[in-house]
Amino acid sequence: MAAAGAHDTAAVGSSLDGRALAQACEKAGVVLRYATPADVPRVLELLEQLSPTPAGAPGPDALSMAAAIAERTPGTVTLLAVDVRPGATRGEVLGTCSVASLRRLARGGSMVARLEDVVTDKRSRGRGVAAALCEGAKAEAAKRGAYAIDLRCVPKLAKYYGKFGWTDAGCAMRCNL
Ligand SMILES: CC(C)(COP(=O)(O)OP(=O)(O)OC[C@H]1O[C@@H](n2cnc3c(N)ncnc32)[C@H](O)[C@@H]1OP(=O)(O)O)[C@@H](O)C(=O)NCCC(=O)NCCS
Repeated sequence: MAAAGAHDTAAVGSSLDGRALAQACEKAGVVLRYATPADVPRVLELLEQLSPTPAGAPGPDALSMAAAIAERTPGTVTLLAVDVRPGATRGEVLGTCSVASLRRLARGGSMVARLEDVVTDKRSRGRGVAAALCEGAKAEAAKRGAYAIDLRCVPKLAKYYGKFGWTDAGCAMRCNL
């Protein structure tokens, strides 16, 4: 992957043969790193740009988010795309996504992963930030030994995710609680 800068304490996918990830990061001018609890305010700012936001949805709980971010394994990991283009504000976080993993008994206890909360800051869209995050999410899922990484999206984004290898996996169902 792209060379990690001074603030990229834990570069995502660095132990993998992540050629697609490296290329995506280079194209977007970002490096990926894991979020830390200190990143929670910025992650919250980005998540406010996530759409569609269900009306009346409870806002993210910053404390439990910080705890989830600190835990990292085996639950949910939050990835950040950090701007490294020349002249960029040092360490500016342009986008985020989260990767959750779950052990499936029906698959002999193997892991399946899920990509959630992909968002790029409005001012930085269209330069490949989410592409880098998608490749990073796949690398992270592979690192965890997952056999697949699922996601849910609005139909108009299906073609976009298809560029990174996601295919239609049939009907998605939800029971709101
Ligand atoms: C979708 C999103 C993450 C893409 O981020 P990005 O960093 O601009 O993405 P990239 O630069 O890698 O790619 C841009 C591509 O996304 C496509 N795209 C972005 N939003 C789209 C939308 N609402 N419908 C269809 N395509 C869309 C663009 O057309 C572009 O396509 P191209 O590569 O063929 O030109 C960003 O628009 C965003 O944060 N949207 C709001 C949150 C959201 O909807 N997240 C997805 C949750 S599943």
